[in-house]
Amino acid sequence: MTTPLSESPFLRACRGEAPAHVPVWFMRQAGRSLPEYRKLREGVAMLDSCFTTELVVEITMQPVRRHGVDAAIFFSDIVVPLKAIGVDLDIVPGVGPVIAEPIRSRAQLAQLRDLEPDDVAPVLAAVTALVGELGSTPLIGFAGAPFTLASYLVEGRPSRDYRHTKALMHSDPELWHDLMGRIAAIAGQFLRLQAQAGASAVQVFDSWAGALSLADYRTFSQPHSTAVLDAVADLDVPRIHFGVGTGELLGAMGEAGADVVGVDWRIPLDDAVRRIGPERAVQGNLDPTVLFAPTAVVEREARRVLDEGRAARGHVFNLGHGVLPETDPDALTRLVDVVHAYELD
Ligand code: CP3
Repeated sequence: MTTPLSESPFLRACRGEAPAHVPVWFMRQAGRSLPEYRKLREGVAMLDSCFTTELVVEITMQPVRRHGVDAAIFFSDIVVPLKAIGVDLDIVPGVGPVIAEPIRSRAQLAQLRDLEPDDVAPVLAAVTALVGELGSTPLIGFAGAPFTLASYLVEGRPSRDYRHTKALMHSDPELWHDLMGRIAAIAGQFLRLQAQAGASAVQVFDSWAGALSLADYRTFSQPHSTAVLDAVADLDVPRIHFGVGTGELLGAMGEAGADVVGVDWRIPLDDAVRRIGPERAVQGNLDPTVLFAPTAVVEREARRVLDEGRAARGHVFNLGHGVLPETDPDALTRLVDVVHAYELD
């Protein structure tokens, strides 16, 4: 008999219940590490692929078929809802999101209207189709957290120091909070629409939150992440909250309203559990570059992560950040096998 979706190892671990095996999926599992992805994307711009239902479905399925992971992550991007409401932006290959008119004044806030279901109709059609195709494998929907999205909207492009973003935050807190509130409404609605279309869990990516001090995170960012997580609070979907370099923020990121806190590779999971507290599950946290080391090293490091993950009430195995494009796909498949073979008792 096959396991029903609600009892899948991934959803059980998110809820803090004992799973049949430790579940595993990879951030950026759908993407450039796979030759079949690169082939499908030939001649198709990244954002065009995100609004083409058949491509989204196929790209989301590729890593599930190839690696046997325990969850699918929806193929899209954190800037998709911004594109959908008409913000003039592009994802430039090798660079990332680039915004034509960065938002640094109150007048420019007008670019951010509410997201309506019709704006993302082909995206939601892909969620519906995937839920049917995936059967008992959960689909994870996602959105960007307000701080990470603001960092693109204010800088206009990827940044190392978030200079314009932090300058706005500190010099005009009122405009900052209005901007973050607008973004939170859009990201929250994007998350809600995916969950209503059938996604089994959601992840809020606050990838660049680690650039903030704990005090600034609490004042300028956390309330808006809470608003995004709250947007699906009534829908019975576990909520994962992840960022990079967030060792000092883990407790606050959990308090923002997450059921599962994503941890990067910089701190061991048992230490992360002490910072987060016993009532939330954790996700992570193998260093993605370890996959470039010999198999024996990958296995040893994976087992260390699994051992440390036992301290949590639930552990979803993942990398500490996304799969690097140059990663050997076979190394990922072998890693899935190592995680699944790990004895829990
Ligand atoms: O497998 C998956 O994780 C699902 C799809 C996914 C993408 N982006 C596809 C993508 C997800 C979950 C994201 C989230 C995302 N997008 C984040 C948060 C996660 C993280 O990595 O921290 C961020 C910060 C973005 C913004 C963004 N989009 C960046 C920084 C880039 C990389 C630019 C580059 O070319 O190196 C993108 C583009 C992007 N998003 C690609 C993919 C597969 C690569 C574009 C391509 O294949 O042409």
